[in-house]
Amino acid sequence: MTETVLVTGGAGYIGSHTTLALLQAGHDVLVLDNLCNGSPEALRRVARVAGRAPRFIEGDVRDAALLARVFAEHPVTAVMHFAGLKAVGESVREPLRYYDNNVAGSLALCQAMQSAGVHRFVFSSSATVYGEHAPIPYSEATPVGRPTNPYGRSKLMVEDLLADLAQSDPRWRIAVLRYFNPVGAHESGLIGEDPSGIPNNLLPYITQVAVGKLRELAVFGGDYPTPDGTGVRDYIHVVDLADGHLKALHALGQHTGWNVWNLGTGQGYSVLQMVRAFEDASGRRLPYRIAPRRAGDIAQYWSDPAKAQRELGWHARRGLPEMMRDAWRWQQANPQGYASS
Ligand code: NAD
Ligand code: UD1
Repeated sequence: MTETVLVTGGAGYIGSHTTLALLQAGHDVLVLDNLCNGSPEALRRVARVAGRAPRFIEGDVRDAALLARVFAEHPVTAVMHFAGLKAVGESVREPLRYYDNNVAGSLALCQAMQSAGVHRFVFSSSATVYGEHAPIPYSEATPVGRPTNPYGRSKLMVEDLLADLAQSDPRWRIAVLRYFNPVGAHESGLIGEDPSGIPNNLLPYITQVAVGKLRELAVFGGDYPTPDGTGVRDYIHVVDLADGHLKALHALGQHTGWNVWNLGTGQGYSVLQMVRAFEDASGRRLPYRIAPRRAGDIAQYWSDPAKAQRELGWHARRGLPEMMRDAWRWQQANPQGYASS
C-alpha cells in the first residue's frame, strides 16, 4: 500500500536517509523541517538518488496552525518524527530549549494528528533511555532507567506521553524505535552526516581528523573495564536504520497500541576497534591519543536486536567495513558537508 508519510526532521541526518528509503519503496513523502540543523541540499540530493523529490515544507513542529494546515491539505497516512535537538552537552546548558523542542514539539504534533485523525506514528527514541545501570545487552524488556541528561529525559518523556496516548485511544499505532549509535552514510556518497561545528560523536570526529580538519582524535578514557580499556558501543549503519523505519511502518499494520523496538546490530565495538576499522577502510593512519574519560559516558553497552528481527523481520545487514567505507566516502566527497556543494 502506498502511503503519504509526513517526515519531520527529514532534512537532517537520519531523516534524509529514511526519506530516501521511503521514496525508493514507492511512498510519497512530505518533509517538515525548520532547518535549524538540516539542509535543503540534503533533500535535493535525496531527489537525485531516488529519481523523484519529497515535498518540502519549511516550518516548525511546534507551530500548531501550520500542522493543522499540513494535515488539511495533504492526505497524510502516517508520521515519522525525527525533528528534535540531540546534543547532550547543549541540553545540560539549555534544558528549556530541549524540552520545548523535543517534548512540546512532539506534543503539538500528536495533538495535530489526533485532530486530523492520523494515528500511525514512528518515533525516534534512543538507547539512552535504558539509563546507566542496565545489564548488557539491552533488550526491550530491560527496564528503562533515569537518563543522565535533559536530552535523554526528553526522549523518555515522549515515550511515556506516547504510551499514555495509546492507552487512551485504541486507534493509535505507535512504534518507538530505540536507536543505538547511528553512523555511516548512503553508499552514493551524496547524503551523510553534516554536524555543525566540532563533532561530538566518534565517527564524524574520526573522518574529520582523517581529512585534516581536526588534528587528532582524543580517545575518551583508556581505563574502562572493557577488553582494551576504551568505551564499547553498538554502531549501526544509517541505511540499515532507515530500513528499520520502513519495516516498523509496515509492521504497524499488525501491531496496535504502543510498541518498542531496539534498532542495533547486537555487536559492540571499542573506540580502538573503530579506529583500526577506519584505518583499514581508508588506508590512512589516524592520529589519536588517550585522553581522560568524558563526563557522563558509560563503559559499554550494546543491543539485543532479537525483537526487531522477530516482529519486524529486520536486522542490520551492514558491518563495520561498510560503515567505515561509506562514512569515509561521504567525508571525502563533501569535506565541508553540504556546504561543499
Ligand atoms: P539531525 O539534527 O541531523 O536531524 C534533526 C532534524 O530536525 C534537523 O534537520 C533539524 O533542522 C530538524 N528540527 C529540529 N527541531 C525542529 C523543529 N522544532 N521543527 C522542525 N524541524 C526541526 O539529527 P539526527 O541525527 O538525524 O536525529 C534524528 C532524531 O533521532 C532526533 O530526534 C534524535 O534525537 C534521534 N536520535 C539520534 C541519534 C543519533 O545518534 N544521531 C541517536 C538516537 C536518537
Ligand atoms: C552519545 C550521547 C547519546 C546519544 C548518542 C548518539 C553522550 C554522553 N551520549 O552517545 O545520548 O544518543 O551520542 O547521538 O554524549 N568518543 C571518543 N572521542 C570522541 C568522541 C567519542 O573517544 O571524540 C568515544 C566515547 O567516549 C564513546 C564512543 O566514542 O565511548 C562513542 O561516542 P559518541 O559517538 O559520542 O556516542 P555515545 O557517547 O555512545
